[in-house]
Amino acid sequence: MNKSFGIASSVIIVFLCLIYAGIAVSQKKEVLPAPNGIHIPEGYKNWKLISVSQRSDNNTIRAILGNDVAVQAARSGQTNPWPDGSILAKIVWQDAIHEQWPTATIPGKFMITEFMLKDAKKYSATGGWGFARWLGLEQQPYGKNADFVQECYSCHIPMKKNDYVFTHPVIMP
Ligand code: HEC
Repeated sequence: MNKSFGIASSVIIVFLCLIYAGIAVSQKKEVLPAPNGIHIPEGYKNWKLISVSQRSDNNTIRAILGNDVAVQAARSGQTNPWPDGSILAKIVWQDAIHEQWPTATIPGKFMITEFMLKDAKKYSATGGWGFARWLGLEQQPYGKNADFVQECYSCHIPMKKNDYVFTHPVIMP
């Protein structure tokens, strides 16, 4: 084999390997739907803030975000009931301590993403909300079967007068 041809073909092979590796890395693992068929809402990481909360019983910190319909309802005080099409996301991290400032509680280990999707007709059996939860960075769907929603719904029933929602949208200037 001609020497320069050998070098050229090696360069091409290395180049093709790099492209293949790039494709493999860019192919994100698909997130499986929850057992009730709800898919993880697209783009939720870019939604806007509705509120934050911290639970002292299990030492976790949460951000509550909303899609455009929910954020518009929250900003204009139209949240009882929340309009159809609203989606509320709750993202949960374990409490951690800031390394330079021990009295500052910050998000540590990522725990859960969970959602409430408003569709008064479709989800009439559970207060007009579809519930779904994914666990950990692997985003493992929560629940053995579709009945898991009873657990969610029953704990949200005390908030029936607030359309089953605990969160009160934050006040901002
Ligand atoms: C043991 C009680 C309990 C159960 C079970 C429960 N929740 Fe909640 N949920 C709460 C409380 C309390 C809050 C408000 C405090 C907070 O931010 O965590 C909340 C808040 C939420 C929020 C933010 C909107 C709101 O109502 O404030 C979402 C979304 C949510 N839960 C989804 C779910 C889903 C999905 C399930 C079932 C997989 C579930 N919840 C099960 C108690 C519960």
